Amino acid sequence: MSDNIFTEELELNYTEVAPEIDFKEFEKVVTSRRSVRVFGDEEVPDEVVQKAIEHGLLAPNSSNLQPWEFHWVKSDDKRSALAKMCFGQNGAKTAKHLIVCVAKTGTWKRNCERMLASLKAASKKDGIEVPKAVKAYYGKIAPMAYGFMGP
Ligand SMILES: Cc1cc2nc3c(=O)[nH]c(=O)nc-3n(C[C@H](O)[C@H](O)[C@H](O)COP(=O)(O)O)c2cc1C
Repeated sequence: MSDNIFTEELELNYTEVAPEIDFKEFEKVVTSRRSVRVFGDEEVPDEVVQKAIEHGLLAPNSSNLQPWEFHWVKSDDKRSALAKMCFGQNGAKTAKHLIVCVAKTGTWKRNCERMLASLKAASKKDGIEVPKAVKAYYGKIAPMAYGFMGP
């Protein structure tokens, strides 16, 4: 087994079958999406927003270190202060929900450690050893890259 996660293919014998997707429905979502400038009165249930945030967390990101926070702002005072920060734009003023996405530059170290811990737990559960190259990646390479070059 290789030690270089960048250049060698790991011998994991792991595959995933892609689920059946209704392409027409997916295309409808992509082509009908709009940047809405004024929202209507319809309420958006909390469960819908919660799901949207959960789906946002599945976005691809560097080394899967997830350097972000999503803040779902609920207080009216903070929401109106935020709308002001958005240059008072109607989109922010009429939105039923506001979510602030924060890029975090100081969480990579903690998240490398969390990644190693979760890989260890998964390997114990599934009886599959964590490849040496993966351990080296989160234990040495990623901390070195983020530490020296910065996020
Ligand atoms: C990073 C980013 C910032 C944007 N900021 C604003 C904004 O402040 N106000 C606004 O009305 N639209 C904003 N937009 C929306 C763009 O104007 C919009 O995506 C573009 O005109 C294409 O229209 P569509 O998203 O409806 O296809 C922003 C889009 C992006 C990606």
